[in-house]
Amino acid sequence: MCGIVGYVGKQKASAILLEGLKRLEYRGYDSAGLAVEHDHKFEIAKKVGRVEILAKLAAQQRLSGTTGISHTRWATHGGVTDANAHPHVSSDGRFAIVHNGVIENYVGMRKFLIGKGYTFASETDTEALVNLIAYHYQKESARPDTSRFLESVRKTLHHVEGTYGIAVLCTDQPGEIVAARKGSPLILGVGDGEYILASDVAALISRTQNVVYLKDGEIVHITPKNFSITTLDLTDVSPVIDRVAWTVEDADLGRFAHFMEKEIFEQPAALENAMRGRFSEDQSSANFGGLNLTPADFRQIDRFQFCACGTAWHACLVAEHLIERFARVPVEVDYSSEFRYRNAPLYSNTLFFVISQSGETIDTLAALREARRKGYKVMAICNVVGSTIAREADGGIYQHAGPEIGVASTKAFTSQILIAAMFALYVARMRDMSFSDGVQYVQALKQAPDLVRKALEQAPRIKEIAKRYARHRDFLFLGRLSLFPLALEGALKLKEISYIHAEGYPAAEMKHGPIALISETCPTVFFAPKGEIFNKVVSSVQQIKARKGKTIVIATEGCEFPPGLADEIITIPDCHEAVLPIVAAVPVQLLSYYIAAELGRDVDKPRNLAKSVTVE
Ligand code: F6R
Repeated sequence: MCGIVGYVGKQKASAILLEGLKRLEYRGYDSAGLAVEHDHKFEIAKKVGRVEILAKLAAQQRLSGTTGISHTRWATHGGVTDANAHPHVSSDGRFAIVHNGVIENYVGMRKFLIGKGYTFASETDTEALVNLIAYHYQKESARPDTSRFLESVRKTLHHVEGTYGIAVLCTDQPGEIVAARKGSPLILGVGDGEYILASDVAALISRTQNVVYLKDGEIVHITPKNFSITTLDLTDVSPVIDRVAWTVEDADLGRFAHFMEKEIFEQPAALENAMRGRFSEDQSSANFGGLNLTPADFRQIDRFQFCACGTAWHACLVAEHLIERFARVPVEVDYSSEFRYRNAPLYSNTLFFVISQSGETIDTLAALREARRKGYKVMAICNVVGSTIAREADGGIYQHAGPEIGVASTKAFTSQILIAAMFALYVARMRDMSFSDGVQYVQALKQAPDLVRKALEQAPRIKEIAKRYARHRDFLFLGRLSLFPLALEGALKLKEISYIHAEGYPAAEMKHGPIALISETCPTVFFAPKGEIFNKVVSSVQQIKARKGKTIVIATEGCEFPPGLADEIITIPDCHEAVLPIVAAVPVQLLSYYIAAELGRDVDKPRNLAKSVTVE
């Protein structure tokens, strides 16, 4: 959840570290800090608050070193204080460390180290790690200087239970960083005469697009001239240099006020990218190069199991609806965190899917590992190329939605739904869907980007509605069938960025409890698409109206909604059932965004949240 940036090169490290941290701030924003090595000493700046506060502090300190490490924190162990901010320095002053993850056995380590005379200045688990490195360094005094730093980190990591992405500096080895990962991402950018280490490509793409994705259990030793990778048990690793497709412009705000707004408006392009090259030649089915399964393998599968968290879990619920509806294959959906621990009985011919924008969510990664441990093949739908989940899965589908930086997921969500809709088609065409129905379905999916563009045209009207409703403290979101998950998603979006209480329900469930909430002060957002359940939704709206509840209805064009019944109507274009949840997402995303903006919330960095949840 926290962000790490490291630099080895010829430039002033602090400026590069601060630029990287700014791009990573969505990962955690309780405090930020950096350490640069200069003249065998550390220059350190760290402070509670955002990166801009750190930048001011760093400017006063005139940090001049050309090697450094930095961090933006989402607090786990220890409160949000300057002392708990990273980097942490060993009590002998020789090592500085930044760390993502959780050291589960830090209490025992700390006790041991206090017994050996080491002192502690913070409440963090990380400080135990850096002091243990110092302890092993003392013990390794017989080793040549060139390997002593690396070996003391390696020895320390052998004692660690938990997860980590770390970067370490040593005053005895200027111009060097030792970094390692287990459960927290780390990427090495290989630039022109410089190396940039980061927990996320967004932090390094302004300097290089050539990267090495470190794997769990690997340690990289970076020096001014080169780098080498080994495993914890001393095996040499030949690095593979990949090229990142994202550019620095993809990760910039451009003309928008917030990344969330930018990403909502990027949805047509994200949808086009998700579809590109993925329809069969005869335009009646979908193609997925990365599934690594033959049609014959698919014929053996008679059930799908999906796992994810948060918004991605809502995408799984839409996937369930679409696959069952069009391919007539049963689908189970579980929260990753629940799946992992509840030991559910599983059918044998089941294919697993995990959905994760970041590809780093720890619960989803654990669900994937649990399913693989039980001998199931796991497919991943991920946005971040080279992410841990993408790498550990047996196959998968990349979203190609571009970097999603706003903490609230928007374009990744609709692109996940589109991929689910394409997958439903793929499976359906292997079963009972006819060629002509397949062709129609493909044509409908291809219209999704334009339909979303059209839905986005409602933005000014939704902004006005948002202004009128922003001061309400409770909201209900109701939808049916494929739009029930959209009701959940609408409620999640609103609460996470505006801090307004909201709940999502299947519309007909309203009568079984939530209707008690209805009053003039609790508006209801209804999805009322054309089709067989339209009249049922109209009668639910009537029931709300009879209890003086305000209603905001999202209806498809051409719906005959009784005049005067709804307080507000937002129209979305009429579309194929497989595209409807994508188009219907737009008004609820915009409504939450404009309400949060109206309330002056920090839309891209809502309180207590961080993008990519890498702790349990
Ligand atoms: C909500 C949101 C989160 C994520 C969840 C899973 O807007 O973004 O609920 O959807 O943390 O994240 P990924 O998809 O990265 O696994």
